[in-house]
Amino acid sequence: MKVTVVGAGNVGATCANVIAHGDYVKEVVLLDIKEGTAEGKALDIWQTSHINNYSTRVRGVTNNYEATAGSEVVVITSGLPRKPGMSRDDLISTNAGIVKSVTENVIRYSPKAILIVVSNPLDVMTYCAYLTAKIPSSRVFGMAGILDTARYKAFLAEAIDCSPKDIQAELLGGHGDTMVPLPRYTTVAGIPVTELIAKDKLDAIIDRTKKGGGEIVNLLGTSAWYAPGAAAAQMAEAIIKDEKRIFPCCALLNGEYGMKNIYLGVPVKLGKNGIEQIIELQLNEDEMKLLNASAVAVKEVMDVLDKMKVV
Ligand code: NAI
Ligand code: 2OP
Repeated sequence: MKVTVVGAGNVGATCANVIAHGDYVKEVVLLDIKEGTAEGKALDIWQTSHINNYSTRVRGVTNNYEATAGSEVVVITSGLPRKPGMSRDDLISTNAGIVKSVTENVIRYSPKAILIVVSNPLDVMTYCAYLTAKIPSSRVFGMAGILDTARYKAFLAEAIDCSPKDIQAELLGGHGDTMVPLPRYTTVAGIPVTELIAKDKLDAIIDRTKKGGGEIVNLLGTSAWYAPGAAAAQMAEAIIKDEKRIFPCCALLNGEYGMKNIYLGVPVKLGKNGIEQIIELQLNEDEMKLLNASAVAVKEVMDVLDKMKVV
């Protein structure tokens, strides 16, 4: 089994590192366009193998797609990260060109691969990869919901003073300020979250979750990487191990939630075939309204990409 991670920056290198630690693939190839970056980071990661007790070989290459041939899963993290004051959507033109050329190369050498897109603006870059790859949408999807729910769970665990391990939560919509955390689908060890936290506190946590990416950008001057890298690695693991795990992922809708031809965050089942099922929740009127608003925001950016005719 082989996984390729394109982009050896903060997110890509973290993702490769987490996958290697899992010790469930033979090889992780890290690829970057910047001479020496992937080689250096891969070497550093590989040199933790004895310390961390794994055998997964980690190899770095500069733009050499031949080395990625035959990958089962490819994680695409190449692109610019957000800087303070930038929205995810500001990244569209630069990152669409990058995602397009990376996808073409990846598919040339790994035509059966499953693609996990991480580059921002996430929903639209996933759409860009799908248009470019020309493979079924069950094999092209994006990472956002695992990260966004992880933030939501971390904030809740702090407020309730419980272990994040006991929190289950669902979140829908685009990877942006219109995302829709769902309190009705949030439990702590099976207990509805509303029984453990006051409404005003929960509302504040939902608001913080929606702005969770920006909070870190403002602190660091660039976007997050530990949680995003680990989240993408968790998706790769579910696919490689055929775990049938249910995660919120950015998937192409074809009638689900009453929407078509839009990439949006929804709960899906991940296994060896990629997305094996899109799960349709029975949303109430208010939840549906929020999801529709999020879809409008994503669609606007998808239309920008269509008009740019990059793909
Ligand atoms: P980074 O700047 O640390 O790394 C990006 C890497 O991509 C750089 O090493 C760069 O040389 C490489 N790159 C650029 N063009 C390339 C090409 N054509 N081929 C191969 N490599 C290329 O950025 P970071 O922090 O790793 O973020 C990467 C992307 O992920 C950004 O677009 C960021 O906004 C996005 N992101 C998405 C998240 C999500 O939840 N979906 C969360 C965090 C970041
Ligand atoms: C994040 O949510 C900016 O998408 C990036 O951290």
